[in-house]
Amino acid sequence: MLKDKRILLVIGGGIAAYKSLDLIRRLRERGAKLRVVLTKAGHEFVTPLSVSAIAGEQVFTDLFDTRSEFDVGHIRLARDTDIVVVAPATADLMAKIAGGHADDLASTVLLATDKPILLAPAMNPRMWDNKATQRNATQLGADGLRFVGPNEGEMAESGEGGVGRMAEPLEIVAAIEGLFAKPAASRPLAGKHVLVTSGPTHEPIDPVRYIANRSSGKQGHAIAAAALSAGADVTLISGPVHLPDPAGARMIKVETAREMLQAVEKSLPADVAIFAAAVADWSVAKPAAQKTKKDKSGAPQFSLVENPDILATIARRNAERPGLVIGFAAETENVIEHAKEKLRRKGCDWIVANDVSPQTGVMGGDRNAIHLVTGKGVESWPQQTKTQVAQALMARIATALAGAPR
Ligand code: CTP
Repeated sequence: MLKDKRILLVIGGGIAAYKSLDLIRRLRERGAKLRVVLTKAGHEFVTPLSVSAIAGEQVFTDLFDTRSEFDVGHIRLARDTDIVVVAPATADLMAKIAGGHADDLASTVLLATDKPILLAPAMNPRMWDNKATQRNATQLGADGLRFVGPNEGEMAESGEGGVGRMAEPLEIVAAIEGLFAKPAASRPLAGKHVLVTSGPTHEPIDPVRYIANRSSGKQGHAIAAAALSAGADVTLISGPVHLPDPAGARMIKVETAREMLQAVEKSLPADVAIFAAAVADWSVAKPAAQKTKKDKSGAPQFSLVENPDILATIARRNAERPGLVIGFAAETENVIEHAKEKLRRKGCDWIVANDVSPQTGVMGGDRNAIHLVTGKGVESWPQQTKTQVAQALMARIATALAGAPR
């Protein structure tokens, strides 16, 4: 897929720059045509000589290099490519791109390009978590730049852990292939059956009252819409929401967790099942047949029973288990740890984890910042709209179904 594709790789100044040498090798193995820009800070970590030896090409380093200006020129460098990949994308480089700076060759090329830009951030976890970096990442996502990683894991500084590790070279290759795959195969999920659950469930107390939660269904419905755009055959099983049905989806509307489980089981087989619904964990053991009235005996008492776990039930099935089972984890603290534990406990393949603390505005809001937890590790995506999250998830699913490592 990458044969003869022109890739401009910008290597920023971070310890992860050594991994970019391997990235160059992997891209060349696949027949890509590479040009490399090394930032001044990048020089501190890898030398132009080692980069050009591996790339088999001269490395561009200086904005006012008369030779490169004569040969190519920074505008042509920016335009004569199919994609620009920044790996590692340091906090400083991200800030420069977000601010539109152009004071060296790398930032000038990034400002002048009219091609897609893929960033592979790499930095200390505190720098990644810093509000300024998160603000820049959000801005860059809104500007249409794409991200791969950063991942969670051990950092170069011993004892430092968290999110900030650069994605592995093969993950970056898969992300680049994903970007190229998009226009060629705008319906990458054609012929696949994608099942999505969405919204809250309502668990009746009596004919007029119920237990519910604040889920709006926006993320689940956006996922169903993105799957439809990707060409999939979509079954959307939704609890009560105030949202239009995505055009083209097979809709099954349910109220309770038990009805939702039945609807899911009836809709199998599926290639992919995405459980975005905020299913109530409990239901009332014996809902009253008539409206409960106030009387002198005081507040009514009712006992709760645990609802079936739809995700775990489907993930642990032997027969007709969908090839890719994806759960959601709505957390208010220790998001990644809880999500990893949920992945193991429920037996699913991926968990899309998000922080739903009230201050994040995720519940009911239009934006979401998620961590994708797979058997291989954790990717933290910058905050973006729920539609963008859904589209990025479909791209990841399409790559996974095409046989890339999960
Ligand atoms: N889920 C489900 N059926 C349930 C409860 C949850 O299918 N009865 C699914 C949700 O759709 C979601 C995932 O499980 O994909 C995580 O749900 P969440 O409510 O965050 O986790 P819980 O299992 O409730 O665990 P905890 O309450 O400990 O957070």
